[in-house]
Amino acid sequence: MNVSDNIAYVGVNDHDIDLFEGQYDVRANGMSYNSYVVFGDEKIAVTDTVDVHFTDEWLANLDSALAGRTPDYLIVHHMEPDHSASIAVFMERYPEATIVASAPAFKMMVAYFGTDYPERKLVVKEGATLELGGRSLTFIGAPNVHWPEVLFSYVPEDKVLFSADGFGKFGALDSEDPEGWASEARRYYFGIVGKFGKNVQAVLKKAAKLDIAHICPLHGPVLSENLGYYLDLYNTWSSYEPEDKGVTIAYSSVYGNTKQAALELADALKARGQEVSVFDLARDDMSEAVENAFRYDRLVLASITYAGSIFPHMSTFLHTLAEHAYQNRRVALVEAGSWAPMAAKVMRSQLEAMKDIDICENVVTVRGAVNDETRTQVEALAEELAR
Ligand code: FEO
Repeated sequence: MNVSDNIAYVGVNDHDIDLFEGQYDVRANGMSYNSYVVFGDEKIAVTDTVDVHFTDEWLANLDSALAGRTPDYLIVHHMEPDHSASIAVFMERYPEATIVASAPAFKMMVAYFGTDYPERKLVVKEGATLELGGRSLTFIGAPNVHWPEVLFSYVPEDKVLFSADGFGKFGALDSEDPEGWASEARRYYFGIVGKFGKNVQAVLKKAAKLDIAHICPLHGPVLSENLGYYLDLYNTWSSYEPEDKGVTIAYSSVYGNTKQAALELADALKARGQEVSVFDLARDDMSEAVENAFRYDRLVLASITYAGSIFPHMSTFLHTLAEHAYQNRRVALVEAGSWAPMAAKVMRSQLEAMKDIDICENVVTVRGAVNDETRTQVEALAEELAR
């Protein structure tokens, strides 16, 4: 699975992991931690390491790719432990190697490994070039894509962009993903990088000046064809523009009445030709609900009133949207409350703190069971959302 004649893949697949970064369910398809070797005529550079549980497998891959040669450099694009955990082992194994990273990455090395390898370090920043003989890496600052120390790098001779977490995706490389690249790449983007849209936009502008044939991320497949498709999606996602027209309905229900209102609204929208996806925030994967909220141009929030506020799962969902800079969407409210409905008011106040959220005029209020009055409100809201 080499990228070019001079760039080898030495990453690993993780099928043991349940929750990536402690929260994203990847049990279905696992995760990959990508690492590469760039062979110059004179020097050899390894880019990044892997998760601590796969150090031995990675070293075996490295041995196989090196075929008896010794690496001269370890390039650290990103210090998060899914990529940096094997740095100390590498540095011990190859005592002649120099470690190449940004200044903030070296500070993190002290925190993680108790040293920044002062005798063996090379600090690089935007525009610096590392010559390997016939090949070179030019570094591109990519702060906050996803951590502040992140660098991308570009090999002009092979037209290769090493993009750190950018253009990454959930799923091991030996797993088939029937939904294609975009679905799990979108869930990954909005979960992990999405909050940093401005930073992604900044690095996309730099990438636009490069002639790129291969994008090599730290997770997911190397992208080598139809790169405009991936770059366009990243531009849409990072500018907070909706990708598709459609309605995401996210509900929190206890006895099923709010759920019924949500499902009847879904039917009313489908009857009007709208694309709809529905999520039970207590039972469905919330990161998929977040992904869909960003994907589509409209969102419906349906929650019971709970302790004078909203149900905990809805509270978490709204908090997650705010944390990921949710903006520039049309949102509708459905509430339930048997004696003093408060959910719409609480959700509205949280939405008003977000940027460019257009809240629908019609609100559905379920007082107990869904009845004719509720259905009239559901129809009115469906009409407004479909307009
Ligand atoms: Fe894949 Fe931000 O680490």
